[in-house]
Amino acid sequence: DLPSFVKIVEVGPRDGLQNEKGNVPTSVKIQLIHKLVAAGLSVVEATSFVSPKWVPQLADAKEVLKGIQQVPGVRHPVLTPNLRGFEAAVAAGAKEIAVFASASESFSKSNINCTIEESLVRYRDVTAAAKKYGLLIRGYVSCVIGCPVEGAIDPSKVAYVAKELYNMGCSEISLGDTIGVGTPGSVAAMLEAVMSFVPVDKIAVHFHDTYGQALANILVSLQMGISIVDSSVSGLGGCPYAKGATGNVATEDVVYMLHGLGIETNVDLNKLMEAGDYISRHLGRPVGSKTAAALRKH
Ligand code: HMG
Ligand code: MG
Repeated sequence: DLPSFVKIVEVGPRDGLQNEKGNVPTSVKIQLIHKLVAAGLSVVEATSFVSPKWVPQLADAKEVLKGIQQVPGVRHPVLTPNLRGFEAAVAAGAKEIAVFASASESFSKSNINCTIEESLVRYRDVTAAAKKYGLLIRGYVSCVIGCPVEGAIDPSKVAYVAKELYNMGCSEISLGDTIGVGTPGSVAAMLEAVMSFVPVDKIAVHFHDTYGQALANILVSLQMGISIVDSSVSGLGGCPYAKGATGNVATEDVVYMLHGLGIETNVDLNKLMEAGDYISRHLGRPVGSKTAAALRKH
């Protein structure tokens, strides 16, 4: 049985723009977020309060978050890797944060410069502080299928990190196939392992389309009861610390598939395509969604 409604978590302004080589002006980021909200997306991840030495693309996190016009019922989570980022996020008005751990030891080191266990200790402090402020907390697990260094990742490792994040108070656990190597078989096995510790309605899936498997992986996730899907307008993105990782699955393609299945999203595909056109124009490249490219030909 497929869900009747799927909540899409738009991650383009964060996961997408964190990986762009050229400088994207703050005003363009804010406009993009406004266009995504206007298209009906109720969760648009805005930016990350991370070290500007690690991710210079998002050094304007404070200005972006402060510049967003707040719309009732719309959420703008921001990534916070430590208490320092958390405090900066709160000062800029964040109402929801996300912590990001990894199921791969090597990726944890290259992405946040610490071991998995060290990151969990750090995130216990961040989530405790967030709960004091009454903020919602999202928890990411990266490399849930494979790691560029370690190869295949055992589902039990993913389940362990997901369980720890859930137990420290994350209200949603997003499972990231950072390098896009998963296929429906490996994804189903991974989800099954996580679902023995985290309720299915608290699980989100986050696929990168590196091997063209993202929509198939989303479909198998829906069949297993998942109803929260992360995606990125125009397929923006990648990860600066995962070599070869391409963008997230394009939001336009996800919406086209979901609506085709009779699943509601509240997203207006035409308006979403306008947001995709807008950012693609700024980046000077063709739109990265197959659905948008096809519909634009008509
Ligand atoms: P570190 O170098 O180990 O930490 O970095 P540090 O405490 O030594 O700090 C280094 C410098 O950064 C210092 O500055 C700090 O003050 C500063 P200096 O003294 O050298 O001038 N600093 C900060 N500045 C601003 N905001 C902060 C902050 N913290 C320290 N919050 C750290 C550790 C975690 C900070 C670093 O590794 C980092 O920022 N990493 C973030 C990497 C990142 O954003 N990756 C992409 C997001 S994850 C992803 O994309 C995957 C996902 O999409 C899911 C999937 O696809 O699977 C979520
Ligand atoms: Mg990602």
